[in-house]
Amino acid sequence: MQESSLSDFIRSNKLTAAYISHTIIIKDLIKEMEKGLAGDRSSLSMLPSYIHTDFSLPLNTPVIALDAGGTNFRAAVITFRGNNRIDIEDYQTYMMPGIESEVSKKEFFNIIADYVKPLLARSERIGFCFSYPVEILPDHDGKLLYFTKEIKAPEVTGNYICRSLREALLQKGFKDRWSFTLLNDTVATLLAGKADFASSLYDSYIGFILGTGSNTAYIEEGSKILKDPSLSGKGHQIINAESGMFNLIPRSKIDEEFDSKTNNPGNYIFEKMVSGAYLGPLALEYLKSAADCGLFSNSGKKVFNSISEFVTKDMNAFLFSGTGRKTSNIFSSLTGADKGAATAIIEAVVERAAILAAINLAAFILKSGKGSRPEKPVCITAEGSTLYRVKDFKEKMESHLSRILTGECERYFKVIKIENAPLIGAAIAGLTTHPVYA
Ligand code: BGC
Repeated sequence: MQESSLSDFIRSNKLTAAYISHTIIIKDLIKEMEKGLAGDRSSLSMLPSYIHTDFSLPLNTPVIALDAGGTNFRAAVITFRGNNRIDIEDYQTYMMPGIESEVSKKEFFNIIADYVKPLLARSERIGFCFSYPVEILPDHDGKLLYFTKEIKAPEVTGNYICRSLREALLQKGFKDRWSFTLLNDTVATLLAGKADFASSLYDSYIGFILGTGSNTAYIEEGSKILKDPSLSGKGHQIINAESGMFNLIPRSKIDEEFDSKTNNPGNYIFEKMVSGAYLGPLALEYLKSAADCGLFSNSGKKVFNSISEFVTKDMNAFLFSGTGRKTSNIFSSLTGADKGAATAIIEAVVERAAILAAINLAAFILKSGKGSRPEKPVCITAEGSTLYRVKDFKEKMESHLSRILTGECERYFKVIKIENAPLIGAAIAGLTTHPVYA
């Protein structure tokens, strides 16, 4: 196969930085943020969290922290001790209900109530990080808008999460009163970064997740959250943007065909181009299309057409070792040239995801209006398996972000990682907010 046809394929599918105009995408993204904040039609939900960042953390007060993520449900008791010491006790990881098979609303909350039961005697405060789109109420409960990440629990949609969990606990015979604070994982991650002892170094904070799904939270002034007049002029608060929904991104035919085969075609376009639930399957779609364009030998074409499942972990194993996980035997028969071409295509898909992730972060930094002095950068607390495990992803994303933010829109940032950020952020929210119903 000729070098030029491979680079033509990559170029014609707009997989290189030169074909992705960050200036246009950033402008569109900021416009969508503004529309979402105003309550106008927008691909971004821009959900208020009713949580601000001017908190002082009560020390030596245990709080129950819950984290309902894409695959796992984690629970622990967390106590902040001062001098940046955090005690995490009774830490347990369970399976997220609805991940393996469909569950009813009753089953969903009963399963979670069983996970929480062993911790209930330890604290009356519960911080609950819920990594799905939820409309949060000023009393810190929240209504599930819909599930993402293939969770199968359709009856839960439209329900209040904390009220329903509380009912399940009461039905199990628990009589205590708890105060619940529900928050998105990006909001929790932002809070964990803010509580970090070095936080005085930063001008503002962003919480960014790039794992199974993707999303961003940032800090916005109350006066700009036009859709909730009760917030106008009231300080600031963290906004869960649901940035994975952003849909004004130039796509190739292959992206469009891939999207049409997902559960929610036309939605979560950004998430489908960058996050772990989709990156491997999308790369496979590109490989199959490259095979149809004659970019592989006949035997290579047969190999790629025979693969039905290529999850992001498989894709990553291929990038690291030229084989796969379950797919290793199939790939071992590839010729060196086919392997080289497949690697170049997968790397281009990953590179584009890194560019888009950087563009997304640049837009939120610019929207925050902060970080214009090098001694006070914006702190991006970042979480997620795709960001940290996919080969060279974080380095690529950071180098694109630096490139985008130098020049006319000079801004400074620092990406940090906090162990157990969603759980720690849930604990902070549980301790520092004042839920009105308990
Ligand atoms: C969800 C977000 C979540 C993100 C990262 C997306 O699928 O809609 O609420 O923050 O995944 O976990």
